Amino acid sequence: MRFHEGIGAGTLWSLAEEFGTPLIVYDVGTIRSRYARMKRAFGKADVHYACKANPSPPILSVLRGLGAGIDASTVNEAKLSLSLGFTRDRVMATPSYASREDLIWFLENGIAVNFDCFEQYKKVMDMGPERVSFRINPGFGSGQFRAITTGGHGSKFGMPLGDAIRAYSTAREHGACSFGLHMMLGSNNLDPEFFGAVAEAAARAALEVSARCSIAFDYIDIGGGFGVPYAEGQEPLDLERAARLANEAILSAGIPGSPGLVIEPGRYLVAEAGLLIATVTEVKVADRVYVGTDVSMNTLIRIPLYGASHPILFLYRSERDEGEFDVVGQACENTDFTARGLRMPVPSPGDLMVVGNCGAYVSSMASSYNLLPTPAEVMLDGSPRLVRRRPSLEDMVALYLQ
Ligand SMILES: Cc1ncc(COP(=O)(O)O)c(C=O)c1O
Repeated sequence: MRFHEGIGAGTLWSLAEEFGTPLIVYDVGTIRSRYARMKRAFGKADVHYACKANPSPPILSVLRGLGAGIDASTVNEAKLSLSLGFTRDRVMATPSYASREDLIWFLENGIAVNFDCFEQYKKVMDMGPERVSFRINPGFGSGQFRAITTGGHGSKFGMPLGDAIRAYSTAREHGACSFGLHMMLGSNNLDPEFFGAVAEAAARAALEVSARCSIAFDYIDIGGGFGVPYAEGQEPLDLERAARLANEAILSAGIPGSPGLVIEPGRYLVAEAGLLIATVTEVKVADRVYVGTDVSMNTLIRIPLYGASHPILFLYRSERDEGEFDVVGQACENTDFTARGLRMPVPSPGDLMVVGNCGAYVSSMASSYNLLPTPAEVMLDGSPRLVRRRPSLEDMVALYLQ
């Protein structure tokens, strides 16, 4: 695993000393460089950060400063974004199974909605939204894991093209005059061809809708899904090729209205910016060697939930003997494994574990299971700044009523 430029072992030791563990450290320079690369690669495309990846207000503020918009999946994500200074025209919503009240809130606050299905739109049809976009499931999808594949058979997201044609016609009859089309077919894709395939499917769908419903499109949104390597030796995504294929597919299709391309990256912008630091608490030699740390599945839920793996290394206080071991946490579940079968020097209590790619879907998916605290979080942009404290027991039980 690579350390970030400027975050060497010495910095990690001193951050752990100063802020304690578990701790997530976000390198702002990495977020800036990922955003700049995305903008360069995609040219005129509009970038809306999918803030489900990490809704940390300081991260949102960094991205707002760089010019990003927001893709919100819930009212609360949209409210947070507006409170941080994103203007309503820069926030877009792609809600799933939202209530009528939530949909009304989006519309009354001037937020464009990518409706998941005809039923969702019908809940607010009486309001006659002028801007309407539908999320289409073209019958295929691809994600690193089944759970993060959001298109194709058995996906809870989106609608078939046939339904979309009826939905766009109905929306037009109810006053819609500005149209978008949305697709999001899976997360953590490292194959650039996939993004060409998504854009081609979106362009085909837009042409068909346009011909059948006599409408022009303002934007085509191909979602996020831009992957980062989690395993040693994995080839990173060729983002420039993905962007070229997606742009070409939309531009060359001749879609009425000459729609702009919208993308909603989450993971790509923030995953590699985050390092999680844990302290080794115990080493047990039993049927296997179990190395326990103070970070558990309440924080790294991606690992038991998907079978995901993260890059891991240890910082040793002194020289250790090589061996094979599993890494476990403090939760009362036998799925609480951070890694299995590692072959490297076996750490001892007090050594540090550093887990890479923890900027996306780690803090945002963490829970207080077993009343284990989630990590404190620090932003590194020059000197380190604590941006989220580790919750106390009082914080964790504050909402219970006696
Ligand atoms: C609608 C939508 N947009 C964007 C994203 C962001 O995906 P990623 O983090 O893979 O870029 C997701 C993730 O599931 C999503 O559902």
